[in-house]
Amino acid sequence: MNSAVLTPLTARRGSPLKGRIRVPGDKSISHRALILAAMTVGETAISGLLEGEDVLHTADAMRALGARVERTGEGLWRVHGVGVGGFAQPSGSLDFGNSGTGCRLALGAVAGCGITATFDGDASLRTRPMRRVLDPLEKMGARVISAGEGDRLPLTLQGAADPMPITYESPVPSAQLKSAVLLAGLAAPGETTVIEAEATRDHTERLLKHFGAKITSKPHGEHGRRIVLQGQPELEPSNVVVPADPSSAAFPLVAALIVPGSELILDAVMTNALRTGLFATLKEMGANIETLATRDDGGEEVADLRVTASQLKGVVVPPERAPSMIDEYLILAVAASFAEGVTRMRGLKELRVKESDRLEATADMLRVNGVIVEIEGDDLIVHGKSNVAGGGEVKTHMDHRIAMSALMMGLASDNPVRIDDSAFIATSFPDFTGLMRSLGADFS
Ligand code: S3P
Repeated sequence: MNSAVLTPLTARRGSPLKGRIRVPGDKSISHRALILAAMTVGETAISGLLEGEDVLHTADAMRALGARVERTGEGLWRVHGVGVGGFAQPSGSLDFGNSGTGCRLALGAVAGCGITATFDGDASLRTRPMRRVLDPLEKMGARVISAGEGDRLPLTLQGAADPMPITYESPVPSAQLKSAVLLAGLAAPGETTVIEAEATRDHTERLLKHFGAKITSKPHGEHGRRIVLQGQPELEPSNVVVPADPSSAAFPLVAALIVPGSELILDAVMTNALRTGLFATLKEMGANIETLATRDDGGEEVADLRVTASQLKGVVVPPERAPSMIDEYLILAVAASFAEGVTRMRGLKELRVKESDRLEATADMLRVNGVIVEIEGDDLIVHGKSNVAGGGEVKTHMDHRIAMSALMMGLASDNPVRIDDSAFIATSFPDFTGLMRSLGADFS
């Protein structure tokens, strides 16, 4: 992406949002489907793959590591894997663009192979912490050959020819960290165990099972899990259907809640309980979100949701809910701005190390649009009112979710909201603007 040329965009209040849409495939599952399919022996067909830039970077990385990865139609991909431990030495550096997930998961997958690879990304990814992933991977036998300041990208990792299994108690609630250890553990003999104090999204575990690995996940403490993987399986190809991404559905969903007179149906949204903290929170705030039908789609529960404009009220969001809605606080803050009363979102430390410092960026986004907001420690406090002034220009800091959240705010505020750059929306939600316009959104 050419980040030197900015593409501003403005959202303004117009007609109610109406229609029925399906948002693109889940980003987390898309990355994992490509990486795990590349570690099977044989061919896997993937449908509904998110064709956002983040995922396309992962597809390129898998190609560079020796897998055959082909696009056969819209959202349809075929991956011919090289087997666990079978990656080839890439000839150039692996570019993960804006994507922490692609990069950290691939670090884990490479850590279990006797190859050396250089990992790189854009200016945002180069600021993000990699040490959290490197700690366990070094314990398993991988070595950092060189890295940017503070062990950041660009980073060259020498994988372990004979990786060792470990038992790892994760110091941060991060599905990326858990997944990196499990992917490295695939190539290690015996059992690799990850213990998490707070359960995070479990798509890696589910897909590992889908591809034939022996893996168990049991409750640990009040909110955690203990995950045990048997190493050195022969992963078998098995087709994957990627359900619609609840983190992307969050944007039109909140827009429908705050734009008076709106009514939307969102089709086949994944409702894995480890991803739906936002929906639970919005319902507590008084949101009218109705589940029309549920079914299973590729091993995940999905639901069609009907959303109608609602008068929201402020709530306290408990810290233990954070892992199940970690990417949704920005858009929740937009909803909270239009709610009656105060919303306190507790325990948001991890937001500081996302595509941008999302705690500060969220507060700035609201402030420039006339909303009263405070940061107290790791808590974000939003003072809601039924009308938001808008009129601000929001700095997006190479962060797709800031861009989309600010635009949703502009659809309901008294004055238009402008973002400095819409380009990064393409990392996770291609044709976001087209889909929103089809519902009646006024963007120019
Ligand atoms: C993701 C995990 C989360 C999330 C990210 C996707 C994943 O990051 O913010 O967008 O697919 O595993 P952390 O694991 O760092 O919390």
